Amino acid sequence: MITLDGLTKVFPAPGGGADVVALDDIDLTVDAGQIHGIVGRSGAGKSTLIRCLTGLEKPTSGHVSIDGTDIAALDGASLRAARRNIGMVFQHANLLDSRTAAQNIAHPLEIAGVPRARREQRVAELVELVGLSGREHNHPAQLSGGQVQRVGIARGLAAEPKVLLCDEPTSALDPSTTRQILTLIRDLRDRLGITVVIITHEMSVVREVCDAVTLLEGGRVVQSGGLLDVASDPHGPLSSELIPLPPAPTGISALVVNCDYGDSETLRTSDDLVRLAGERGAHATIVAGTIETIGGRQVGRVQLALRNDSGAPISREGLDAFIHALDAQGVVAQEVTR
Ligand SMILES: Nc1ncnc2c1ncn2[C@@H]1O[C@H](COP(=O)(O)OP(=O)(O)O)[C@@H](O)[C@H]1O
Ligand SMILES: [Mg+2]
Repeated sequence: MITLDGLTKVFPAPGGGADVVALDDIDLTVDAGQIHGIVGRSGAGKSTLIRCLTGLEKPTSGHVSIDGTDIAALDGASLRAARRNIGMVFQHANLLDSRTAAQNIAHPLEIAGVPRARREQRVAELVELVGLSGREHNHPAQLSGGQVQRVGIARGLAAEPKVLLCDEPTSALDPSTTRQILTLIRDLRDRLGITVVIITHEMSVVREVCDAVTLLEGGRVVQSGGLLDVASDPHGPLSSELIPLPPAPTGISALVVNCDYGDSETLRTSDDLVRLAGERGAHATIVAGTIETIGGRQVGRVQLALRNDSGAPISREGLDAFIHALDAQGVVAQEVTR
């Protein structure tokens, strides 16, 4: 549905100096109907990527194909036509204060010259679709932050795009409103079959709504894949971001080992780890852990305190043997130094 092929964008340095490579040879595919998260630190290239997707920015080299159309090759009227297939949602909806919610939603349709009767019918549909019924005659000042973002989403969907690009759509919202907006985005994907790209710095957004995720760093793709695949790959950078571990406990007398059982075929839950320790003569207690269910599978990392029969920390040899046994079954384990 969306294919980036060798996408590169180089900006000349503002004051002379070395050029800035904002995007460096990006290959990426977003399947139709997928919700794909793009994450990365500030300066990683996320906004440049989304501007290339909308045709606002011309790539230095490479291709940007949306639904089979090479956006980067278009100009003028053909670019405007292609952009009608792309809806945008921003962090701040920037509504027109003098217009009601419904009038704000109608605005892009007015600009596109849609006749009044059709416009009114479409706005009514959109108001219903984003859950704003009863609020459509409110002005922005009379709407909550979540309602304002619903107007922003409705406006982005006005022209019935196949793709919705969201740049930090929930970054200005509180956690419970964030969840409602993410639920709405997923509902819209389910009901309309649209493809969604969400740029975000919030890992909770990725966990809650994305089917796939791509991590950018310095304009390059560092990791990309299905949510379960990246979350359960302990060697990749995204797993510890998606499933962070709470701080190691202090004040206990035991050796503590950190276990990441995400992609093990045999050790799938923390109970399995405790059992394996038992088979090796160690009593394991879970002292810290983060476990998420992603795609119906438990993905997690836990810290186990290991003691022997008399309640003392197990020997270093015992620990090494345990770590080795875990390793053999695909669990990445490491002693936690405290
Ligand atoms: N118009 C521009 N001119 C020069 N440099 C730019 C321009 N836009 C972005 N950059 C640079 O490109 C890099 C990526 O920026 P950006 O895409 O905004 O990152 P992000 O959205 O991930 O924070 C940064 O180093 C930024 O300074
Ligand atoms: Mg940005």
